[in-house]
Amino acid sequence: MTADTVANPELAKAFVGRDVVSMRDFRREEILFVLDLAERFEHTSEPLLGGRVVVNLFFEPSTRTRLSFEAAMVRLGGQNIGFADAGISSVAKGESLADTIRVVENYCDIIVIRHKFEGAARLAAEASRLPVINGGDGSNQHPTQTLLDLFTIRKLHGRLEKLRVAFLGDLKYSRTVHSLIEVLAQFECEFVLVSPQELRMPRDILDDLARDGVRCREEFKPSILPVDVDILYTTRIQKERFVDPVEYERVRNAYRLDREALEVFPRPVTVMHPLPRVNEISTDLDDYEGAAYFQQARNGITVRKTLLSLLLGALP
Ligand code: NCD
Repeated sequence: MTADTVANPELAKAFVGRDVVSMRDFRREEILFVLDLAERFEHTSEPLLGGRVVVNLFFEPSTRTRLSFEAAMVRLGGQNIGFADAGISSVAKGESLADTIRVVENYCDIIVIRHKFEGAARLAAEASRLPVINGGDGSNQHPTQTLLDLFTIRKLHGRLEKLRVAFLGDLKYSRTVHSLIEVLAQFECEFVLVSPQELRMPRDILDDLARDGVRCREEFKPSILPVDVDILYTTRIQKERFVDPVEYERVRNAYRLDREALEVFPRPVTVMHPLPRVNEISTDLDDYEGAAYFQQARNGITVRKTLLSLLLGALP
């Protein structure tokens, strides 16, 4: 990929060295720029990142996010270091996150971090002179998942504008939903929020949507699916975020999608899920026409290749 193949060199330049902590930090134009560029990266594995090193600091479990970042780096000729279990790092000896960051930034060119505390990625970004990518911070944000979700939606529906999207399941703790909904709102999408009362969307997000005049309704019976939507974005009940195990037991089987449940839709609906699924999507949906969750995982590597290259200035 060369300078003249990048649609907007000015925007590309503005990404160099930048942190990706929250989707709130990105304008619509910037998001579309990343998605357009990602289309080119889908079939590109040039060694653009030869000699570059990413450090992956995963303080919480991960399969897709960590491995797709690693694979993206390797595919572009770069290298990975890091840990997937904070228990084997000096954090277990009591080292602060800020100190960990100040040390590891000497070993790499870019940092990817996942942490159970909201705000941890912002703290890391403030502590570091290198670009920091948030791989998920508590219930707060998961911006790279959002970018791959948007990429997937645009591929399947040909647009992001004016779609009707139902978010289903754990809307209280799912960071993937919190990251995605406010971006889709900028594209004039409408929402149905389906969850048990206990797991409804946080008040601050509902208030933001109401302030911006976004069309949105809540439904508290997860067994009743809204048939007037284009996308069902489903989530796992985030067991690890519950302070009260009794509360988790009450909602753990709140909903389950299978082929029979989707028969109420007049035509195939797009079923998305960031994965991992536990029991909320039956495997009998895996070959359903609208099932998009494995495609989302596949698109993760494309989007992460794009971001790593942009932030590291590997596009001239
Ligand atoms: C999600 C996460 O970590 O927030 N997983 C992912 O990155 N694809 C969703 C989840 O854990 O339920």
